[in-house]
Amino acid sequence: MRREPGRLEGRLIAVGVTGSIAAYKAPELVRLLQAEGADVVALLSPSATRFVAPLTLEALTRHPAESDVLALLPDGRIGHIVVAETADAVVVAPATAHWLGAMASGLAGDVVTATCLATTAPVVAAPAMDGEMYAHPATTANVRRLREDFGYRIVAPETGALASGRSGVGRLAALPTIVDAVVAAVGDGPVRAPDAPARPPEAIMPREADLTGRHLVITAGGTSEAIDPVRSITNRSTGKMGIAVAQAALDRGARVTLVVANVRVPLPEGVRAAVVPAESAGRMRAALLEALTDQPGQAGFDALVMAAAVSDFRPARPAETKLARADSLTLELEPTPDILAEVSRIARGMDADGRETRRPLEPRPVLVGFAAETGSLARAPEKLERKGLDLLVANDVGAADSGFGTDTNRVTVYRADGRPESWPLLTKREVADRLLDLVAGLLDARDAAAHTGLLTQESRT
Ligand code: CTP
Repeated sequence: MRREPGRLEGRLIAVGVTGSIAAYKAPELVRLLQAEGADVVALLSPSATRFVAPLTLEALTRHPAESDVLALLPDGRIGHIVVAETADAVVVAPATAHWLGAMASGLAGDVVTATCLATTAPVVAAPAMDGEMYAHPATTANVRRLREDFGYRIVAPETGALASGRSGVGRLAALPTIVDAVVAAVGDGPVRAPDAPARPPEAIMPREADLTGRHLVITAGGTSEAIDPVRSITNRSTGKMGIAVAQAALDRGARVTLVVANVRVPLPEGVRAAVVPAESAGRMRAALLEALTDQPGQAGFDALVMAAAVSDFRPARPAETKLARADSLTLELEPTPDILAEVSRIARGMDADGRETRRPLEPRPVLVGFAAETGSLARAPEKLERKGLDLLVANDVGAADSGFGTDTNRVTVYRADGRPESWPLLTKREVADRLLDLVAGLLDARDAAAHTGLLTQESRT
């Protein structure tokens, strides 16, 4: 069933939570805003964290929940400033008497006040407190200042039972009323920051250890092919994507062998990562062919993720000594072997001409390629087929936010067993995790099929 577009479709709404008992309603407010199509990010004052766990809001919003005004995001940006600059509205619910006072005085001691001070977006505040506190002239004056001097929309509290056991005005307004106030505050102007990279990053939600007991071989970086002892032909790959896959696989419990060409980013932490240097296409081929079989006929790994940018050509005759300056130089290049295609043929028991000459390796390894294209991805399906892959991750390396050296990637994933999936612009880590979701699924399906095959054989005998 198709969902009707919500009233906050594509908007980023910041939910500021301060330390009132009504903070327990914040997760429900987040869900209602999301039901209207909003992307939501949460901000918590220190006392709010005692009523509602940042992890709860992080899991719901899929963004880091900001609770420390001095903390930086993992990418080095200042979290509350990113929120201030990209949110279409900030809604503070519940807003305590203390927060109203701090805000009215412009005291930026917590992320909620700091964000409100730093933003030009509309702010909605929904006070919640004890009846006497709400009636106090200090609170009344603060609310008036927020409304009249700052232009904030105040969603007045309701009358009802309060935390003290008494009844009075001070109960947080009904959540749909707060959502309506946010919709009215946002209006129908353009979305402030439509692109995900400008917005707060995605929270890395811990995936299950669903790759425990699996051995993944991952290649990363650009190969370089010697012209002479000091010069080489290489490419602009930095290794970020492959290393993100390796780190994600380690975090999910896999045993990882990382085959690295030239990388310009730190290698993943974690002692379990065995690192095999393989500078050139020739070395990478040798390393992978060695890893490919364990006992004869047995696969040496469960999956190969070939994120390395392998040179397609290399100097046919690298010079043994440094080439001297001359008027001109002509290099003869020869093609490098297609490593992935060769690994795939061996895994499927085929010879160089594609004839089945042996039994396929057991268990069949899952093979993943990457295709760096410029402009069109039209050749990707043919590459998947020609190389005999399970998955091919294609991206346009010509785009500014996707490709060599960037922290983000926009990819289309082609599958041997289904339709291609185009993913939005994501961090390389999120691309890695989504890719490993597919790899884990393929490995589970492979094992289930083998198990069913065994059962069928048993029932026949
Ligand atoms: N690859 C490989 N060996 C090579 C070249 C590429 O194993 N000699 C792998 C890459 O690591 C990548 C996949 O094949 O995972 C696709 O690489 P790409 O360069 O896009 O494919 P090519 O077959 O080289 O096609 P072309 O250069 O024509 O685009």
